[in-house]
Amino acid sequence: MAEALLEIGALCSSVRGPAGRHAVLNGIDLAIAPGEIVGLAGGSGAGKTSLARAILRLHPVDSGSIRFEGREIAHLAGKALRRIRPRLQMVFQDPLAAFNPRARVERVIGDPLRIWHSLSRTQERQRILTLMDRVGLPERLLGRFPHELSGGQRQRVAIARALATDPALIILDEPVSALDVAVRAQILNLLLDIRETSGTALLFIAHDLAVMAALCDRLCVMDAGRIVESGSPDRLVAVPQSEMTRLLVAAVPKMRF
Ligand SMILES: Nc1ncnc2c1ncn2[C@@H]1O[C@H](COP(=O)(O)OP(=O)(O)OP(=O)(O)O)[C@@H](O)[C@H]1O
Ligand SMILES: [Mg+2]
Repeated sequence: MAEALLEIGALCSSVRGPAGRHAVLNGIDLAIAPGEIVGLAGGSGAGKTSLARAILRLHPVDSGSIRFEGREIAHLAGKALRRIRPRLQMVFQDPLAAFNPRARVERVIGDPLRIWHSLSRTQERQRILTLMDRVGLPERLLGRFPHELSGGQRQRVAIARALATDPALIILDEPVSALDVAVRAQILNLLLDIRETSGTALLFIAHDLAVMAALCDRLCVMDAGRIVESGSPDRLVAVPQSEMTRLLVAAVPKMRF
């Protein structure tokens, strides 16, 4: 395996709840190679979103390490943390909640460009149009507000925005869970195309193992703040070794492999 793009070791995180502190991430080890698509599955409350947010440093880290592009980032702050942002992007399950509701598509996609690149107005518009074309959004949607888009179009906008800064890794938290099967398939194909053409690595969080098997090179299964199993999708589905993996396999109706 090539040198890891992301290497997480013994990562622990706890939060304060009504009954005192409790662990949300309980010793996570996870490596992602450049261009690799890794699926992260697990039951509700297993800690998937917390792990995604911890990698982006949006969720507090108690101990352990997060190495990204050869640098330890687990305890970076301020300017040093800002500098890695363009390389590490996230797509949220509900883009409507993640976008500024008063920003039109042009601004939603253009904002990261304005922050990270000094482009002329014309260059910026050209780059936005290229990104829209890349994710299959027609130019006529430039002036729309997020609430005026379909769920699939919104996810395309979120992906275009994530791609704007040429990231090495995009973390996608249940990006297709709210979409119908046809649109879901289109978005999965788009993600495969992005990996193919840009070599972007993806950490793809979902519940549905059938969806993940179609996309991912490798699957990791989380339960109660730990990664309990990881391996090729075919192996996990054929010979699940953990109770959580068995539950996830059983939850997929009439799986065909
Ligand atoms: N900021 C927080 N404050 C308190 N508890 C939190 C916080 N963030 C996460 N948790 C708790 O951590 C646990 C893991 O939550 P998380 O959202 O990471 O799970 P998940 O695997 O993403 O679940 P789902 O599949 O439902 O999205 C849950 O018990 C949740 O209540
Ligand atoms: Mg979640």
